[in-house]
Amino acid sequence: TGERPLASTGRARAGRAPAEAPGRQDWTSWPHYDGAAEGFRGYWYPATWSSHVTDKPRPFTICGERITLIRDAGTAYALHDRCPHRGVPLSEGDQQFPGTVSCPYHGWTFDLPTGRLAAVITDGPGCRLVGKVAVRTYAVEERLGMVWVYIPLADEEPHPVDSQLPEELVDNPFVMGGRIEPRGGNWRFACENGFDEGHAKYLHRTALWRLFKPMPTWNITRIVPRDRWIYRVQDEVHWEADFPGVGRWSNKRWWKKRPPRETFNIGNTGKADTVDPTIEAQEFPGFASLSMPGVLRIAYPKFIHYEFYVPVDADHHRYVGVMVNFTEGWETLRFYAKYLGAIRWLFHGQFSAQDAWMVDVTDAPPEKLYRPDISLTAWRNLSEEEYGGKLAAVGAKPQAPTDEKKA
Ligand code: FES
Repeated sequence: TGERPLASTGRARAGRAPAEAPGRQDWTSWPHYDGAAEGFRGYWYPATWSSHVTDKPRPFTICGERITLIRDAGTAYALHDRCPHRGVPLSEGDQQFPGTVSCPYHGWTFDLPTGRLAAVITDGPGCRLVGKVAVRTYAVEERLGMVWVYIPLADEEPHPVDSQLPEELVDNPFVMGGRIEPRGGNWRFACENGFDEGHAKYLHRTALWRLFKPMPTWNITRIVPRDRWIYRVQDEVHWEADFPGVGRWSNKRWWKKRPPRETFNIGNTGKADTVDPTIEAQEFPGFASLSMPGVLRIAYPKFIHYEFYVPVDADHHRYVGVMVNFTEGWETLRFYAKYLGAIRWLFHGQFSAQDAWMVDVTDAPPEKLYRPDISLTAWRNLSEEEYGGKLAAVGAKPQAPTDEKKA
């Protein structure tokens, strides 16, 4: 396929000891990543379910920006959640006139598409500020049953939201179930946790999900770049070991004698079991993949699980976990029933709560990395490179957003 591993944990593969995890203990090698505590700007982020955006404005914080979302005549709008008059959140206000939102304090009323001050209810028709003051607006799209907001880097035009979605979600029919919830911890720790090879072996050892779905049992990993994703590709090697003084530990699947050959058919998972493994190896390189600005894809044989980590502020993120089955017709009901009856509780519940816990308690560097952390460093490299390119394309350093701008 012409892919080259970015890195490998394989001891035997290189014929020598693998490159040790870098000795650095901080994130100075990844300055953009290091500086992105509140997220990478210049991307679309899912804010909430479409059905939760109504004519009653609601507040959301994305990449440190306070935003109010409101729906008018079927269209969702996003405005900076701060009235330019005295700084009251517009999300506390309501809709007095179609196509607008009014601040609850003195009735400054803003046009939703442009953010321009359309009327000042308490100053009559002659108010001189009308049309001259504006609250910032954000580009909004609706995909996957969610409202997506573009957080600009400078004043650039947003790229199409579809170009940022996992490719298979753009054109294929599918049924989907999911959870969106606020979580503690920095979004980067959430990203790193999702793609972290080591944690699946250990942190999730008590997850009930493991009774139903195979969990990783490899110990040789390669990171393979492909398009805008990095894939974690594992060769399954089972081991059992005595840790002197500690006890015995094995990475075997404990309920199966023989490691099953699994195939992961990204794009249309329905026929995954019958895919020729050699084709699979070429076409679908990995079980776990990650792309900017923090989208995890876990390709199970019959469905794909995605996690979108949405930066809120330096200490909080929003977890958006969706399970997608590429099917139509009656089959969608079967999957959705399975989702509500089991997956939602087992996977998006107990299993995912273990991740939430760990992300919340992970501490900022200094850190001491070990061999399986190539998944983390590969992700940091990817984000560093892509964001560097984005900055260059915009031709400017990221500007600190100003609260309001003149219309
Ligand atoms: Fe919004 Fe006065 S603070 S109208």
